[in-house]
Amino acid sequence: MALSLLLHLLGLFLVVERLSIAAQTANISLGSSLTASQGSFAWQSPFGTFAFGFRRIVDQDLFLLAIWYDKIPDKTIVWYANGDNPAPKGSKLELTADGQLTLTGHRSQEIWKPQSVLSGRVAYAAMLDTGNFVLANNNGDYLWQSFKELKDTVLPTQVLEIGEKLNSRQTANNFSQGSFQLQLKSDGRLVLYPIALPTAFAYDPYYQSNTSDVVDEMNSGYQLSFNESGYLNVVRRNGDIDKLINKTLLPIRDYYYRATLDSDGLFTQYAHPKSPKNGSWTSWLPIWSIPENICFEAKGDLGSAPCGYNSYCRIDANRRPICECLPGFSSLDPNNKLSGCKQNRIQSCDEQGKSKPEDLYVMHELSNTFWITSANFEQLQPMNKDDCSRSCLNDCYCVVAVVREGSCWKKKLPLSHGVQDWNLLGTALIKLPKSDASLDDPLSSQSNTGRKDRKTLILVGALLLGSSVFLNFFFVATISLVFLYTYQKRHNVTTSTSSIMEANLLSFRYKDLEEATDGFREELGRGAFGTVYKGIISSLSSTNYVAIKKLDKVAQEGEKEFKAEVSAIARTHHKNLVRLLGFCDEGANKLLVYEFMSNGTLASFLFGISRPDWNKRIQIAFGIARGIMYLHEECSTQIIHCDIKPHNILLDDSFTARISDFGLAKLLLSDQTLTHTVIRGTRGYVAPEWFRNVPINAKVDVYSYGVMLLEIICCRRSLEMDRENEEVILTDWVYDCYKAKTLNKLVEDDEEARNDMKRLERLVKVSIWCIQEDPSLRPTMKKVTQMLEGVVDVSVPPCPSPFSSIC
Ligand SMILES: *[C@@H]1O[C@H](CO)[C@@H](O)[C@H](O)[C@H]1NC(C)=O
Ligand SMILES: *[C@@H]1O[C@H](CO)[C@@H](O)[C@H](O)[C@H]1NC(C)=O
Ligand SMILES: *[C@@H]1O[C@H](CO)[C@@H](O)[C@H](O)[C@H]1NC(C)=O
Ligand SMILES: *[C@@H]1O[C@H](CO)[C@@H](O)[C@H](O)[C@H]1NC(C)=O
Ligand SMILES: *[C@@H]1O[C@H](CO)[C@@H](O)[C@H](O)[C@H]1NC(C)=O
Ligand SMILES: *[C@@H]1O[C@H](CO)[C@@H](O)[C@H](O)[C@H]1NC(C)=O
Repeated sequence: MALSLLLHLLGLFLVVERLSIAAQTANISLGSSLTASQGSFAWQSPFGTFAFGFRRIVDQDLFLLAIWYDKIPDKTIVWYANGDNPAPKGSKLELTADGQLTLTGHRSQEIWKPQSVLSGRVAYAAMLDTGNFVLANNNGDYLWQSFKELKDTVLPTQVLEIGEKLNSRQTANNFSQGSFQLQLKSDGRLVLYPIALPTAFAYDPYYQSNTSDVVDEMNSGYQLSFNESGYLNVVRRNGDIDKLINKTLLPIRDYYYRATLDSDGLFTQYAHPKSPKNGSWTSWLPIWSIPENICFEAKGDLGSAPCGYNSYCRIDANRRPICECLPGFSSLDPNNKLSGCKQNRIQSCDEQGKSKPEDLYVMHELSNTFWITSANFEQLQPMNKDDCSRSCLNDCYCVVAVVREGSCWKKKLPLSHGVQDWNLLGTALIKLPKSDASLDDPLSSQSNTGRKDRKTLILVGALLLGSSVFLNFFFVATISLVFLYTYQKRHNVTTSTSSIMEANLLSFRYKDLEEATDGFREELGRGAFGTVYKGIISSLSSTNYVAIKKLDKVAQEGEKEFKAEVSAIARTHHKNLVRLLGFCDEGANKLLVYEFMSNGTLASFLFGISRPDWNKRIQIAFGIARGIMYLHEECSTQIIHCDIKPHNILLDDSFTARISDFGLAKLLLSDQTLTHTVIRGTRGYVAPEWFRNVPINAKVDVYSYGVMLLEIICCRRSLEMDRENEEVILTDWVYDCYKAKTLNKLVEDDEEARNDMKRLERLVKVSIWCIQEDPSLRPTMKKVTQMLEGVVDVSVPPCPSPFSSIC
């Protein structure tokens, strides 16, 4: 959740060393100077909020002339004069007797001076409490101000006019110009776009505000204003304002706000408490950022932002881009992940004459990956994956091919705009020299469910569901802010900041949760582990619902076990899982606080009055499969759910399936298996091995998933009474229909499904594989997702229970 970013941010902003800098706060008179050295003097604003002076760049004997937040431990830099040209030690900043501000090196060579100073006589300089450093004349008019020489950050009260730009920096600790700009265009749009360095040629934007009106010019934007309450607005010529983000902020009297064009291309607004109390966070917390999914939004024929050439982009739980080199490639600049990747070994068409390609190369598969730009040199269609792979292997020009929906595209290097996302169907095939291939082959890990396949660990950031992720992000950030705010007001918190950060969770007092649920009044549901109540947290103008689970069984188990389970749950981040926000652990009172899901359970959705839409049902089934796969294969500790059923799947406001109650059954280390005699599942869904005295593993969830997939397909319960009051077992009935080739019976009056028989058959076959009595015959959840999505073929399943009468 958002708090996880704190640690990351802490790292980010500690890059310039902290010094104990002596300070002077009055107006700065002509003839004053500062010298670049460790612990040198700085000019402070009257209330000490900001300081202006030299800051040493970490690990270098070079200095930045900068403005920073001086009261917070991070000493976050918000403006820098000489990012492209850092000053050596001993350089001097002078406000000369005739009113010139200059930064010069040892030999008096000029390093920096302010641009576009208005004509007039400078009488003094001043560091203001807004963060603006100004040169003023006798009347107090500003002849120059740092607010008008923009870098990567804007502060409250600052205004951007048409044509003015923010520039990102290279990396967190390199203040040279980076590859992104934000500009208010003359037509009134606020745009974010990558640039080609060093010329700053602008590529296609990856974000643009809807504030241009070609018909009525007065309705076009002309300013980006960061107003004094902390809101960023585009102001139109007719005076109307468009909030950049529709979000209520905590009061600016308690928080510092800044908005920065970060080096990864995201424009982000951050908040920092002015005086952190116990239990509050002590770093910059991101409140929102644009765009929603930079991996998809940044495209165009030129450049390869946000990730460099030959890498691919996926977004993390905080919607930040993560750039990864393709297998067989390595980073050009290890200090800058956005710099792109080079081929470790260039293949030559000469060598193929001498030896067979299969002796030199292997094809490596990267699923759910493709390139937005179409730098193809060949398209073969129809062609399946194996043939595509073979074709690329035998083509000495081909390094990468993509197979998608029956087509095989061979690609030209360098590759730009590579994207990896669970909702993508494309599979990338990469030709690797055999020497490179042995290192890390995700294909070989498929058979090994315990191993973590980091290469394919894509948590969030769907093309289709991006908006729900976006909302989650805000929601969590809001919750965090709201809670921390409430806590601060009370001045009495039971948890220290460090333990909150470690567990990545908020810790609540029982009293607070009692209050939030109005004395545990509204029950949302009852599960195997306890009762869930609806809670409400309101503060200022924002109100958020939460689901609070009061655990009863777990209370008897050990303190340590509870902590371990909770922290393992907290480390999960996937868009198909319900997110844990916090917990309460006061003796017998053990509670978990989750996001509230507005659309109820899958059970009520499926078995309600009207039959839900076929395609929506399929999307839900796919989402659940991905969520379970994540729990099985991609968590640091494998989580077996043990009770997959429609009652434990919730639907959020965009009807995305979200698995709940995971992690409560039993946590497993990757190579351990459960040997519990107590059946943890629910009748109708539990795998047969629960009834035998054999070890339990992740395949129990595959079984339950298979049953549930059939329920989703047929909109019928796994166990139902027929007219003669006899129990009808859904799995048996489906297998009968499958055997008799009468699958249309399964979806009798479902027009959409009947028009989609091929897919229906594939889904039924996948289900039958999942409900095999022999756990070892059941596919892994990874395989299940691949079969569902059509990435791999589904073979004809055997009879699920070979010793029963249905076979
Ligand atoms: C700085 O100088 C201006 C103009 O002379 C004056 O109005 C202001 O009060 C001075 N501020 C401080 C902190 O001395
Ligand atoms: C910042 O990066 C640029 C380009 O990558 C490099 O030329 C420059 O030396 C770096 N500056 C510092 C201070 O490391
Ligand atoms: C953009 O704004 C106009 C009115 O200013 C509105 O009609 C239109 O729907 C908006 N488009 C989007 C994509 O929000
Ligand atoms: C700042 O902008 C918000 C809208 O984004 C508005 O509600 C608020 O009144 C503005 N505050 C000031 C001081 O202008
Ligand atoms: C902004 O948020 C408020 C409250 O969350 C909502 O009522 C309003 O419709 C939203 N406005 C827009 C333009 O999204
Ligand atoms: C904050 O925590 C420290 C020790 O952790 C304690 O001494 C102090 O009293 C606490 N302050 C408040 C306001 O709770």
